[in-house]
Amino acid sequence: MSWARRHLLSIEELSPEEIVTVLDTAASFKEVATRTIKKVPALRGKTVASLFMEPSTRTRVSFELAAKRLSADTLSITAQASSLTKGESLKDTAKNIEALNADFVVLRHSAAGAARFLAERLEAGIVNAGDGAHEHPTQALLDTFTIREKLGRIEGLDVLILGDILFSRVARSNIWALTKLGARVTLCGPATLAPLEFAKLGVRVTHDVEAALRQADVVNLLRIQHERQRKTYFPSTGEYNAIFGLTAERFRLTKPEVLIMHPGPINRGVEIASEVADGPRSVILEQVSNGLAVRMAVLFLLNGARGADRAPGASSP
Ligand code: CP
Repeated sequence: MSWARRHLLSIEELSPEEIVTVLDTAASFKEVATRTIKKVPALRGKTVASLFMEPSTRTRVSFELAAKRLSADTLSITAQASSLTKGESLKDTAKNIEALNADFVVLRHSAAGAARFLAERLEAGIVNAGDGAHEHPTQALLDTFTIREKLGRIEGLDVLILGDILFSRVARSNIWALTKLGARVTLCGPATLAPLEFAKLGVRVTHDVEAALRQADVVNLLRIQHERQRKTYFPSTGEYNAIFGLTAERFRLTKPEVLIMHPGPINRGVEIASEVADGPRSVILEQVSNGLAVRMAVLFLLNGARGADRAPGASSP
């Protein structure tokens, strides 16, 4: 198992082999979740601090549960309930967490580069849980894990990412992960939110949503990130739905075996119709379940994959 990193800051810097190592390790941890006793002692004695400066449901709780399942102690800090509201800086907050012997800090922040900023200043391992519109590495890893689990491969698949690409860290991390593993990635959305410049990342950009849906093996939908937009990029959410939304009618254009994905939170009736989100081709909640195994794998590997006896395949904790 080769994974010599202390931090997980981006997918861009991972090799294809490192990505596959995370996916294979996550598969072992998924098996742990089927046991009566769902805990392994891999991180016993370690402390994992979650520092979330932006709202989160899925990422925050699955990282916390992942750390607990690995037998780590956990700390949870959110912007609203911390001394950041009294003017303390991110660096000072993180240094104080480290003074409590945190071995890992899982950071979500609105600023691109915030995770790298801490990695350069702290001894603790830093895990990027989403930094502005830059990257969301574990989301891409769990998305890739889900595709591989469902379709048996990544290489050669046509993956359509549909929605607000411009402001999406999920899109950027998915582009890196999928292209490194040999998928063909197509981006689609309003021209203002899916600009042609993205083609330089080795992907196709189109604004013909119907043609893109017909071709896709996987459709990964993204919500409109109003919180990052400083101006209006399309006239209304109703208009967005009418032109780019995955309505029940447009869903009928897709392949019978298509996977419908969404990182969440979903905006029903805007980028996706409820009957599609809750339909038989949707793996949206399986993505959430797989996020736990992937985040266990990431923490385990960042800890040096230490203690083969403590790895998921070990017979007893
Ligand atoms: N997908 C995702 O990052 O969801 P949360 O914002 O709820 O963590």
